[in-house]
Amino acid sequence: MKPSALRRLLLIAAGTAALAVWVPLGATAKPEATPPQGRDAELLASARKPELVSVGKEIYAGLCKACHGEENVQGESPSNLFDTKWFHGGKPTDIERIIALGLLEKGMPAWGEVLPAEDVTAVVAYLLSVQPAAPRAAE
Ligand code: HEC
Repeated sequence: MKPSALRRLLLIAAGTAALAVWVPLGATAKPEATPPQGRDAELLASARKPELVSVGKEIYAGLCKACHGEENVQGESPSNLFDTKWFHGGKPTDIERIIALGLLEKGMPAWGEVLPAEDVTAVVAYLLSVQPAAPRAAE
C-alpha cells in the first residue's frame, strides 16, 4: 500500500471512531422530564418527611445560615434559598448537586466532601419543604 493511501485509510478510521462517539451522545440527550421522576421525585418525597426536614433545618442553622441568612428571608438574590428563584438550577437534583459539589469559584463550599449523603439529602429536603410552592412539612 502507498503511504498516501494508508494515511487516507487512517483518516477514515479516525472519522468513523469520532462519529461512533458523537452519535450515541446526541441520542441519549433527553428532553426535560415532567412530572419529576427518579431522584427528583425521591427528593420531593423526602421534603414531606418531618424527621428528615428537621435534621436538614438543624444542618442549615449550623452550616448554611452564616452565609445564606435567616430562614425564610425572601428576595431575588442567589444567596437566598427561600424563594422560587434559583440561579443555578431549581430542580431538586440541581439543588442537591450544588450543595454536594459547591460553586467553588463563587465561594460556596462543596458540602459533599464533609457531610454524609443522608445529610445532604436532609438539607435538600428542608429547603424544598420551605419553598413557597412545595407542600410544607409539619413544624
Ligand atoms: C461560606 C459561605 C457559604 C456557606 C457556609 C454556604 N453557602 Fe451556599 N452559596 C454560597 C455562595 C457564595 C453561593 C453562590 C451565590 C451566587 O451565585 O452568587 C451559594 C449558593 C448556594 C446555592 C444555589 C442558590 C441558587 O440560587 O441557585 C444553594 C442551593 C446553596 N448555596 C446551599 C447551601 C447549603 C445547603 C449550605 C449549608 C450546608 C450552604 N449553601 C452553605 C456561599 C455559602
